[in-house]
Order: sequence, then structure tokens, then C-alpha cells
Amino acid sequence: MDWGMKNRLARIFNQKSQRTVMLAVDHGYFQGPTTGLKRPRETVTPLLPYCDSLFVTRGVLRNCVNPSTNTPIFLRVSGGPSVLGELSNEDLTTSMKEALKLNAVGVGLSIFVGEKNEDRTISNLGKLVNEAEEYGMPVLAITAVGKDMARDARYLGLACRIAAEIGAHMVKTYYCSEDFEKVVEGCPVPIVIAGGKKMPEKEALEMSYNAISKGAVGVDMGRNIFQSENPVAMIKSVRAVVHENYSVDEAFELFNKLKSERVVSSVVE
Ligand code: R5P
Repeated sequence: MDWGMKNRLARIFNQKSQRTVMLAVDHGYFQGPTTGLKRPRETVTPLLPYCDSLFVTRGVLRNCVNPSTNTPIFLRVSGGPSVLGELSNEDLTTSMKEALKLNAVGVGLSIFVGEKNEDRTISNLGKLVNEAEEYGMPVLAITAVGKDMARDARYLGLACRIAAEIGAHMVKTYYCSEDFEKVVEGCPVPIVIAGGKKMPEKEALEMSYNAISKGAVGVDMGRNIFQSENPVAMIKSVRAVVHENYSVDEAFELFNKLKSERVVSSVVE
């Protein structure tokens, strides 16, 4: 592995825990202005210091993220259809040159295993890896984003393994409560989990804890952080689980403590 690739991977993962908390704010690339991301700058700015990288499109990056940030940028480079169309109809939207210009530490693209354009999106992944490796750029494959697939270990394991076989350096997938460890075992590259739809904070912390316990190296979480009643308290609590091995109860206690501190400080102000 060349120096550039090693350096980018080292910036994605916390050097002490060797895990990562990525903040996903790319949802608008097919959903438009979703809840919590209507004004991306307002959502992202207070959370930036607490994520190990920001998973974002170039449009939101250029317009809503201060270029003086030290937070590594992980760029979504696929898209095409909107939420109204055939979601699997994705292609590459952002060039490698652009990713380099934006000083990205990695690029991410979705594959749609079991969906209409499965073959094209997997082939897109192969092309992206070929080009990315020329420049020492890690590729994150995002799996299991199909609308109708059962998100069980069999399916997730299939999708993650295919992504790794094609050359992805990391995979983002969903957590499943049964046999998630088998998904991890079958995938020779690190797995991070997406959070999925908003759920109560304790449940999201529990899902993060379970995923880490079963071998995930972190999260690339969006809605369960930025739609939380207290996003900063939530990302700090997720960090405690991922990087400091907090139990679910400890992390939820931390969330409640940080949440109440904010109330107290705003009353004082
Ligand atoms: C899909 O819109 C993106 O890949 C998201 O980055 C991913 O689903 C993670 O976000 P969330 O935790 O909200 O599911």
C-alpha cells in the first residue's frame, strides 16, 4: 500500500481505538432537503469537531462547510436518481480529480445488490477502485440501500462480500440483530454501519454498541445524530461507545447528562 493510501486511512481511523465515527450528511443527494438537513451549515458546524470524518457531497461541502476545518472529508461520489425514481440507477457523479482538489480522505459510492441496476453499480465500484488506487484514495462501498431487500445477515453478507471482492477498502452497511458477526466474518475489509431511520437515542446507542461488539469498526451515522433532540450530546455519546467502549447504559447516561448541561447553560445565558 502506498504512503498516500496509508495516510488517508490513518486519518479516517482514530489512532488509539482504530475505530471511526463518521457523520453522514449526504442524504440530500437523492432525498432533497430532509429533516435535520434543511440548512446543512447549521446542522454540520456544531458537529464537525466531534466526527472523525464528514461524509458529504461536494455541493454541501463547497457551500456549507468552512474550508478551514481540520475534520477529514469523505466524499460521496455517486448519485443520479431522486427519491421519486429508480434508486439503483446510480452512476459516478464526481471525478477523482475533484476528490483530490477537495482534499478528500476517501470516496464513497453505493452498490445495489439484488436491485435493477445491480451489475452496473458493481461495475461502477470496480472502475472507481481502479482509479482511486492510482491516487492512494480509499473507497467506501455503501451496500444494502435497496428499498425492498430483507436486511438480514444472508443478504448483507452477500452485498458486503461482493463490495470487498471488487476492491472496496471499507464497506458501509446496515446492522442486523441476528448473525451480524457473520456479515463481518465474511467481509475481509472493515465495516461501518449506517444508522438508518431515527429511533430513540438509547436504541441507537445500543445498535452502535452491538455492531462494535460484533466486529464493526465504527459508524457512518446520520439521522440518529442530526435528528436527535440534542445532536452534540448524541455524537459525543456515540463516540464514547465506539472509541471508549462505554456500555449502552453508560453512554445513555452520558447523553442525558450532556443534554441537561445544555439546558442548564442556556438558562444561565
Ligand atoms: C444514504 O442516504 C447515505 O448513504 C447515508 O449516508 C447513510 O444511510 C447513513 O445515514 P443514516 O445513518 O441516516 O442512515
